[in-house]
Amino acid sequence: MRVPIFSGLYRATRWAITAIVYGYQRIRGKRYDLETAIHIGDALLAQCHTWPLFQHPTPARASRVVCGLTFPSPVTIAAFKADIPSLNFWLALGAGGVCVKTLRLTPTAGNPRPRIAEISMQNSRCLINALGLPNAGIDAQLATLLNSPILVPERPIGLSLYGESIADYETLTRRILAASLPVPHYIELNSSCPNLGHDTNDSNTNLVAIVRSVRALTSVPISIKLSPMWADETLDTLITELINCPDIILNSGNSHYHTLDALGLHADTLSMPGGGLTGTPIFNATLRRVQMLRSYNRPIIATGGISTPQHVSAVLAAGASLVGIATGVVVDPYCIVRINQHYA
Ligand SMILES: Cc1cc2nc3c(=O)[nH]c(=O)nc-3n(C[C@H](O)[C@H](O)[C@H](O)COP(=O)(O)O)c2cc1C
Repeated sequence: MRVPIFSGLYRATRWAITAIVYGYQRIRGKRYDLETAIHIGDALLAQCHTWPLFQHPTPARASRVVCGLTFPSPVTIAAFKADIPSLNFWLALGAGGVCVKTLRLTPTAGNPRPRIAEISMQNSRCLINALGLPNAGIDAQLATLLNSPILVPERPIGLSLYGESIADYETLTRRILAASLPVPHYIELNSSCPNLGHDTNDSNTNLVAIVRSVRALTSVPISIKLSPMWADETLDTLITELINCPDIILNSGNSHYHTLDALGLHADTLSMPGGGLTGTPIFNATLRRVQMLRSYNRPIIATGGISTPQHVSAVLAAGASLVGIATGVVVDPYCIVRINQHYA
């Protein structure tokens, strides 16, 4: 009974906060900006994320070992949030691990607001974002992380990185190594953010060289966040070149770039002409990508549009070891509990 009640309470609170914020913005003649509602929600969660009421067990028989890291549930939180109370809340609900939102070398403001919106597509709630990787910078983020309750030995932590050059990735990696995180962790290379005007694989910071240089510095597992926009041939070339690189995890995908115009959205929805679509409408593409990646015999994290036990069953059957969820836990974090119950 606790799950439907708390899931309903969460969704009702979220709806009410958003309605009040949008109502206020409308009265003041401002553009709708979901980020204000997100900050209010984060502040509320900061007051209650440690309550025992939110503790749910991870499934007894569903742990997964990926490159030597043990995840007590196949459900992980995809890199999209750095807010510690939120990450702690999702771990309490039973997530097997979290990947912290992409870290950059220096603090970065990201794109102008509004840069995230909730939309309805194919009868589901989705997000479109053009955040542009706003960031406190790796030093501040690592300091926050080191003093946080999310560092527990049973839940591996992913550290997502984005740099402008190979040297940036090397420096980011060295900072992580210097922090000597006391828990199992992996590095994720965010080579596919659609909101920076280019992708790493097309720019002069060649992804294969980045992976090799990070691997030369550390033996921690490296997850490569692949772009859903890359053709199968591009992926094949990339993965084949890395065939001898040990402990590589393939993360099936990031958000899908669309212009506002192509989605039939008003030009005022975001400050940018387009953004990354996330949520259920991208699930089928995720499933196809997992099926394609299976032949490379590398652990796969299926990310994109996952929020139900059926989604998880489908991608695990297709060859994934873990799933990464972002939009699903924003819309209803109790999806974590429902998925875990399915594997209990
Ligand atoms: C608000 C938001 C911020 C995100 N920020 C990042 C990020 O910093 N790094 C990253 O690799 N992916 C980022 N993503 C992409 C997610 O990690 C994930 O790949 C994508 O949302 C697809 O999963 P979903 O359909 O479960 O949301 C972000 C997604 C959202 C919605």
